[in-house]
Amino acid sequence: MTALAKNFSVSPDAPSERNRRGYDVERIRADFPILHQKVHGHPLVYLDNAATSQKPRQVIDAIVRYYERDNANIHRGVHYLSEKATEGYEGARKTVQEFINAGDCREIIFVRSTTEAINLVAQTYVRQNLRAGDEVLITAMEHHSDIVPWQMICQEKNAKLQVAPINEDGELILEEFERLLNPRTKIVAVAHLSNALGTINPLRQIIDLAHAKNVPVMVDGAQAAPRLPVDVRELDCDFYAFSGHKIYGPTGIGVLYGKLPLLEAMPPYQGGGDMISSVAFERTVYNKVPHKFEAGTPDISGPIGLRAALEYINRLGIENIERHEHDLLEYATKRVSALPGIKLIGTAKQKAGVLSFVMDGVHPHDVGTILDQQGIAIRTGHHCAQPVMQRFGVPATARASFGLYNTKEEIDALVSGIKKVQEVFG
Ligand SMILES: Cc1ncc(COP(=O)(O)O)c(C=O)c1O
Repeated sequence: MTALAKNFSVSPDAPSERNRRGYDVERIRADFPILHQKVHGHPLVYLDNAATSQKPRQVIDAIVRYYERDNANIHRGVHYLSEKATEGYEGARKTVQEFINAGDCREIIFVRSTTEAINLVAQTYVRQNLRAGDEVLITAMEHHSDIVPWQMICQEKNAKLQVAPINEDGELILEEFERLLNPRTKIVAVAHLSNALGTINPLRQIIDLAHAKNVPVMVDGAQAAPRLPVDVRELDCDFYAFSGHKIYGPTGIGVLYGKLPLLEAMPPYQGGGDMISSVAFERTVYNKVPHKFEAGTPDISGPIGLRAALEYINRLGIENIERHEHDLLEYATKRVSALPGIKLIGTAKQKAGVLSFVMDGVHPHDVGTILDQQGIAIRTGHHCAQPVMQRFGVPATARASFGLYNTKEEIDALVSGIKKVQEVFG
């Protein structure tokens, strides 16, 4: 640990003092070892947070501690280490429950990722309820993870995937969404925050409209959970999914929240150990929720690392992170859109985290490559949202996405980098 990190790491026991003093980004950056390196001779400027975020030392330490001190299989053991590991795993469930304000721990299912959470709902709840001629309603701004699982189950069941359109700014057209809701709609699936456009969807309105027609709503919270407060009870969503690796936690762990009565009525997703209460060749009785959905030995260090990440966010305050990223996005939008030959893709009134753009005469991949030579990491491509690219008539975009540790100086570096790209191609 650097001297800076030792002196300034975000202290577990000083949240209120820190909030009074304000958001100290330099102090926060000291907690992220990976940020303090040079790439191609330049200080790293990491602006690819929508793809995955970096991990604070607190998360890395929690995982190392688990393997050094507590590693054992969970639930089945009576020995000391097994109890410690189980406590860590189930304690993480409680932390997640509180983080999204779910009413009950049993409503939190550990999965691999947002992708797995959506597949789980498609293959259990929707498989059970979808008949030929029924419909699944999504929006035109969804990530492939929130398209393909629905497409697969619709194909299998001879049902129809309906897509609510978006406008030129990348906002959902609510009237069209409402028009597409009908008695055949069996579920609505919608991103809380679009990874390609940065649009924040009006979830309360969407959920109220769907519920008025008795349609449950699954929210893809992969991009929202790291940067916006999430309260599943206030939202009244039926399912909510997010990934550990985008919220400063490890890869390989994700969360599915589901309302308890829905989860209890759903069939299991996979069969195996731990998801049963008794097995005989004639008949197996499944375990209770949430274990019914967690077959086999799970990723144990994953929830432990995720818990450390959520505790880290809690100490900073998600509202403070939201405000910080909002300021960064405003600043970046002003500076980048003022450059000649740049067009922003995604100009919704309610936005967070993401600045997607195209540059006249230069392919986004070239933008990304020249920025990389200056140590600046952004993402270029279709961002797993090819229908969004088609909607805006572009093959790809360049996307800068912000995290809790980014600074205005880094945005200045991005702007200088873009100017350099323009010089090269000028
Ligand atoms: C909006 C959105 N949904 C879903 C996903 C899939 O997340 P994961 O790959 O962690 O399952 C992503 C990842 O980029 C995303 O941005």
